Amino acid sequence: MAEDGKSEPAQPEQEVNRRAFFTRLGLGSLGLAAAGTLSFSYQYMSPNVLYEPSPIVNAGNPSKYAMNSVTEDRVTAIYLIRVQEGFFSLSAICTHLGCMTAWRPDLGIIACPCHGSRFTRYGIKIAGPAPRPLPWYRTWLSDDGDIMVDRATVIPPMQFLRI
Ligand code: FES
Repeated sequence: MAEDGKSEPAQPEQEVNRRAFFTRLGLGSLGLAAAGTLSFSYQYMSPNVLYEPSPIVNAGNPSKYAMNSVTEDRVTAIYLIRVQEGFFSLSAICTHLGCMTAWRPDLGIIACPCHGSRFTRYGIKIAGPAPRPLPWYRTWLSDDGDIMVDRATVIPPMQFLRI
């Protein structure tokens, strides 16, 4: 402010600074908008794929399963069972409300801890509110000699893998 109350004309250096400030602000805004556009474009162009674990389980070599054994795998929620007739696999998920069942070797049954459903080692319901037996999964021998289980394919019961 000058002594007579009038504002002084902007100095050339101040004007350049103001101009440079607004130029940078504008360029920054454009850069931000470009980054946002690129980000949304990348998301749009990327395949919309849901990565889920494979339903196929490699249960390993048949020799590791003893005769008349029930092997529980809580990670894949299956039972691999070996009986005189051969091998088969069952879902370990209770058909009532989806709890994880457990093999009870002391009783020789598969039991659900939630509401008391019980199944034979063949998945047949013997007690409780479960509406259906435990599903049998497709089970086969790989070219490498390993037992494979497809958790996405339910088969009719009593189809044994004979080795
Ligand atoms: S969830 Fe198994 S009995 Fe209810």
